[in-house]
Amino acid sequence: MAALQRRTGVTDDITTIDDVQRLLAGQDYVCGRPLATVVFLALRLGRPLFLEGEAGTGKTEIAKAVAAALGRRLIRLQCYEGLDAAAAVYEWNFAEQMIAIRTAEAAGGADRDALKSELFTEDYLIERPLLQAMRPQAGGPPVLLIDELDRTDEPFEAFLLEALSDYQVTIPELGTVKAEHPPIVILTSNRTREVHDALKRRCLYHWVDYPSFDREIEILHARAPEAAETLSREVVAFVQRLRGEDLFKKPGVAETIDWAKCLLALDVIALSPEVIADTIGAILKYQDDIQRIQGSEAKRLLDEVRTELETA
Ligand SMILES: Nc1ncnc2c1ncn2[C@@H]1O[C@H](COP(=O)(O)OP(=O)(O)OP(=O)(O)O)[C@@H](O)[C@H]1O
Ligand SMILES: [Mg+2]
Repeated sequence: MAALQRRTGVTDDITTIDDVQRLLAGQDYVCGRPLATVVFLALRLGRPLFLEGEAGTGKTEIAKAVAAALGRRLIRLQCYEGLDAAAAVYEWNFAEQMIAIRTAEAAGGADRDALKSELFTEDYLIERPLLQAMRPQAGGPPVLLIDELDRTDEPFEAFLLEALSDYQVTIPELGTVKAEHPPIVILTSNRTREVHDALKRRCLYHWVDYPSFDREIEILHARAPEAAETLSREVVAFVQRLRGEDLFKKPGVAETIDWAKCLLALDVIALSPEVIADTIGAILKYQDDIQRIQGSEAKRLLDEVRTELETA
């Protein structure tokens, strides 16, 4: 086990699953047992952690919380369609290289080969997230967050698989950079498409679901502690009920927190159909969904929520 611990440099801080929950709670991240277990295993075994789930359920946040809890640097690779190695690994600094060429020419013209070897050195290298994550960092191996992987295309995924299989990247002009200690890798996806099995196989997997009522109350306490108990319970119960409706885009935990903060800013102490109508944009972001829920539907849901809370 000692050798495995050395891989991610996680030693004394985390020896049990409870330690994971405690450390993340210190970062105001509320982590249930199943997620804490998979985070524990990812850290102890040095395996990438692949998190899939609905929007706004705390996938990105967990990488931030793990980095902060362990005192590691967080390096984020935000994925998008068309992401390529130049944006993910490294790029040559063409502008600086041009200046160097002009300067050499002005100084009487340097030897071509000497100039070429000078231009392709680390001085002219712009390091992007994957390369940065392979470099040693003060405080230990960094947390590499590869966010929203489902937004990239398959060739990039294959490239990533290679980089993550031996934690190294190759720069033709400079050689191979291999991480002495592998980074802690967390990948997220909203599952707008399936990520390839080969990549999944390398990772530990966890589906991040919407939290239960009690857990969402806990999250709200952690993230909006100024919200009073009655309002918090109404907000969470209403959002949980909305998630059961046929909506184009269901509200995530992020929306629950935002909504509570909006209500606090308006000095609201309890929900009413009018308050819901005025602030619905904090939880629903599509006009069709807003139209569906506004008016009598909001009142019906609120009545149900009230009955549920009274009988709880
Ligand atoms: N378990 C949790 N504990 C504390 N805060 C949480 C938790 N889950 C979500 N949050 C809050 O919700 C916000 C949104 O979470 P996050 O951005 O991580 O969601 P996501 O799953 O990455 O969503 P998306 O798929 O839209 O990127 C966070 O900023 C955080 O405030
Ligand atoms: Mg995210």
